[in-house]
Amino acid sequence: MTPQHDERRAERVIALSFLITAAAAVGLAVVYLSGGQPQLEGALLAVAFGGLAYGFVTWGQKLMPQGPVVEERHRLTSTEEESEELESDLERGGVISRRKLLVRSLAVAGGALGVAALFPIRSLGPKPGKALVSTPWRDGLRLITDDGKPVLAVDVPMDGLVTVFPEGFPGSADGQAVLVRVSPELLHPAPGREDWSPDGFIVYSKVCTHAGCPVGLYQADSHTLLCPCHQSAFDVLDRARPTFGPAAVALPQLPIRLDGDGYIRARGDFSDPVGPAFWSRS
Ligand code: FES
Repeated sequence: MTPQHDERRAERVIALSFLITAAAAVGLAVVYLSGGQPQLEGALLAVAFGGLAYGFVTWGQKLMPQGPVVEERHRLTSTEEESEELESDLERGGVISRRKLLVRSLAVAGGALGVAALFPIRSLGPKPGKALVSTPWRDGLRLITDDGKPVLAVDVPMDGLVTVFPEGFPGSADGQAVLVRVSPELLHPAPGREDWSPDGFIVYSKVCTHAGCPVGLYQADSHTLLCPCHQSAFDVLDRARPTFGPAAVALPQLPIRLDGDGYIRARGDFSDPVGPAFWSRS
């Protein structure tokens, strides 16, 4: 087989590799848009990049000048042989068009892969907006239990703990809170929160500020809320300040009031974003 035949064959193989890449990328986009199938998407991605890699390697091995390369100092005038070589090169116009074919097939492969790579941006989902800093709690919402019943103040025993949710949002992950009843004179409310805990009823977020576990244990004799995951402890009487364990931030407090019917109602959202401390906190 002559070197020209060899080259032509290599060019066909390279173009085919790039077209396989393009086809795999289109297939990837179609699979993604029709609901996705991780194994198939992974296989198509492997074929797409495999085709690209095979094409480049073959291009480098078969069509690029192979070393070692020595540049001889040449005369300023061309020999008769060189002139003939140039003429025959120009006559072989097909080579130039075949190289164009390679570049075009590479562009098609790169373009298809690039378009397919844009689709996963959709997987990022909608912008979180204010979801990170707000919960369903709003002014006027009653505190309810997980079965949807509004909590009556008289039903909460002294030193008792009840898990509560915003009315209309039973089971809310970020709205879950603990209602504790203590003697009002024991409380040390933070400045500005003097009326947030009427008659000793006080509500804190149930989501631990360390890693988000539910803070569901209450030690009444020390007025301490405990997180079972890594043993963080929070002082109920003093703004749920952390007193032990890895949590470094107090549990957010929910401002509440008692209404004329004896129900407990929120006066707004929590004092701070709930859950583990994150970037927006100072
Ligand atoms: S999640 Fe509560 S202490 Fe770690």
